[in-house]
Amino acid sequence: MKICMVGVGYVGLVVGACLSEMGHDVVCVDNQETKITALQNGQVPIYEPGIEELLHRNIHAGRLQFTTQLQEALVSSLLIFIAVGTPPAQDGSADLTYVLQVAESIGQAMEDYTIVITKSTVPIGSGEKIRAVIQKQLLHRGRPELAFDIVSNPEFLREGSAIDDFLHPDRIIVGTSDARAVPYMEELYEPLTSQGYPLLLMDIVSAELAKYASNAMLAARISFMNEMARLCEATGADIEAVKQGMGRDRRIGPHFLSAGVGYGGSCFPKDVRALIRTASDHRMLVSMLQAVDRVNREQKTLLLQKLIGHFGKTLTRRTFAIWGLAFKPGTDDIREAPAIETIRALRSKHARIQAHDPVAIDNAKRALQDPLIQYCEDPYEALEGADALLIFTEWNEYRTPDLERMRKLMNGGVIFDGRNLYSPERMREAGFVYYGIGRR
Ligand code: UDX
Repeated sequence: MKICMVGVGYVGLVVGACLSEMGHDVVCVDNQETKITALQNGQVPIYEPGIEELLHRNIHAGRLQFTTQLQEALVSSLLIFIAVGTPPAQDGSADLTYVLQVAESIGQAMEDYTIVITKSTVPIGSGEKIRAVIQKQLLHRGRPELAFDIVSNPEFLREGSAIDDFLHPDRIIVGTSDARAVPYMEELYEPLTSQGYPLLLMDIVSAELAKYASNAMLAARISFMNEMARLCEATGADIEAVKQGMGRDRRIGPHFLSAGVGYGGSCFPKDVRALIRTASDHRMLVSMLQAVDRVNREQKTLLLQKLIGHFGKTLTRRTFAIWGLAFKPGTDDIREAPAIETIRALRSKHARIQAHDPVAIDNAKRALQDPLIQYCEDPYEALEGADALLIFTEWNEYRTPDLERMRKLMNGGVIFDGRNLYSPERMREAGFVYYGIGRR
């Protein structure tokens, strides 16, 4: 099938590459010329395991192309995916400006029946707004007879395993009120449905909400576990044992129950807030979602609070090692990352920072803009002379460190482990003062 992917950000690139891998003809469009030129030359602007190989293979096979020529790409495609950014506006709502600009271009360019599919996480009700914008353009052109349909097809891709998530989905959601579009969407995903992956058909608003509700539910699980972790600290229980006890209940399940330094990234914080905003637009108070967000904001300051509890408020002349800058392993994404916010707070108290991350250092440098932060290529280098180590990301390389070497390199043997990577007993035996999250 002929597909146009508008917006070559993270989602657009991964989905475009995966659809071409499934055998479709995909042209990806973006107005950033440098990005498109780089991609045409096989350079990949994002960090995602497996993406380079996928791109090279499909570009080589002639199924995947990159261009800045939107009009041309739109006219020749039956399916148009909108995957441009929906950045949060001041009030927490998702900003639809770019999405509606694309809709306008579609209305100006289309010459044949077209299916317009939203892939970006768009606010509930966006589908109808897109429809209205396209219709207006068609009227303006004197071509109101040109037929098009709108589909919501949200993505459920985790950074770091996005390709696998796309090619082996738990479900594919197709939301549309236009029956005509359904067989085309079924054909599009046939390579996946024929392997047994389920495609769920629903109305467009439900599809839009299903995406937000899924992310909000997962965020709620994390905030819930983080609250339980605090209760563990207050009562003397151990969150890892509590988690085992809960996860064996099949109604609860073992996944997404890890207490930590709070959720970050480009989805959970933004989507929870956008949903709160949608509710308030409908004059509804969503106390649970508000609590999820509030607990998370507090949780992100937890390591700092523990650190101040240990060292006191004066941190001048203290040196802190940081392991992990990315909001989670497998990505260089530092958006809403607890590490970044904590480093800012520590620097405002004039503490010295020595930070390591296997892939996110460049992004952290750009975000923090602080020449006094020392970035280290090696995790042990970050420990030299440090009063304490703070762990923010559960990269595998931090899981089994050489404890003796750590102890020798550090000035003080204090560890604030925001991801519960180690056993508290073992760390104490090794001579560390060890703080986990909700551990005994
Ligand atoms: C998420 C959704 O999983 C995905 O379906 C959606 O499309 C985009 O948002 P992502 O942001 O890539 O994906 O990361 P995810 O692996 O879901 O983790 C989100 C955050 O939750 C991370 O900060 C992670 O550290 C945190 N988390 C996750 C926990 O604190 N505890 C857990 O048990 C699981």
